[in-house]
Amino acid sequence: EEIPDIRASLLKWYDENQRDLPWRRISKNGDNGGISVEERERKAYAVWVSEVMLQQTRVQTVIDYYNRWMEKWPSIHHLAKADIEEVNELWAGLGYYRRARFLLEGAKMIVEDKTEFPKTVSSLRKVKGIGDYTAGAVASIAFNETVPVVDGNVIRVIARLKAVSSNPKDSKTVKNFWKLAGRLVDPSRPGDFNQALMELGATICTPLGPNCSTCPISHQCHALLLSAKDKSVQVTDY
Ligand code: ADE
Repeated sequence: EEIPDIRASLLKWYDENQRDLPWRRISKNGDNGGISVEERERKAYAVWVSEVMLQQTRVQTVIDYYNRWMEKWPSIHHLAKADIEEVNELWAGLGYYRRARFLLEGAKMIVEDKTEFPKTVSSLRKVKGIGDYTAGAVASIAFNETVPVVDGNVIRVIARLKAVSSNPKDSKTVKNFWKLAGRLVDPSRPGDFNQALMELGATICTPLGPNCSTCPISHQCHALLLSAKDKSVQVTDY
């Protein structure tokens, strides 16, 4: 079966090859039984900060900013007491300062109006500055909600996997990728599955030079199959 095979192959690859990133160190991925509510909320805050930083900024650049941020504001409660000047100062160099302001406003909103951290896509979406992408990432990675996360990497991986040749910038198509990703996401480990897709797109299924020989799901890839049958077709066409 195609979907269970894709899930299993991708998760196995992720378990063996995932990058050691600071926000992934908080509670073991996939370890959902034993962690406390506090620990889970700590993870949610870390995922939120890192995912906002990762929008439009490379992982290598984000790591230092993330570490400085978490040292200064280790929890959402610390952040909620910060002011915009300190936040902008720490953000300097990352660009798109609106993202930093939204993080601060979102933290204030959660700490001031709510007793607990929002844990689902629908409640996260109500927080200032949290869109579909960040809501999906936090809900799946920190709270195990079975929801997809779609960014440029995920769109490219799925376009190739399913040989979808429509223009990925088109908003109707983006909606379609959310639907396709929603069918793929593994309900037993949604956060790891989503990160595995993003990681595959960032490290193997790259825009110009996909490394199909090391790809864990190449045997399921429709673009690769088409390119093998017809030399005028390339994986990078998708
Ligand atoms: N790019 C953005 N967020 C990511 C994540 N959580 N894992 C891998 N790559 C990412």
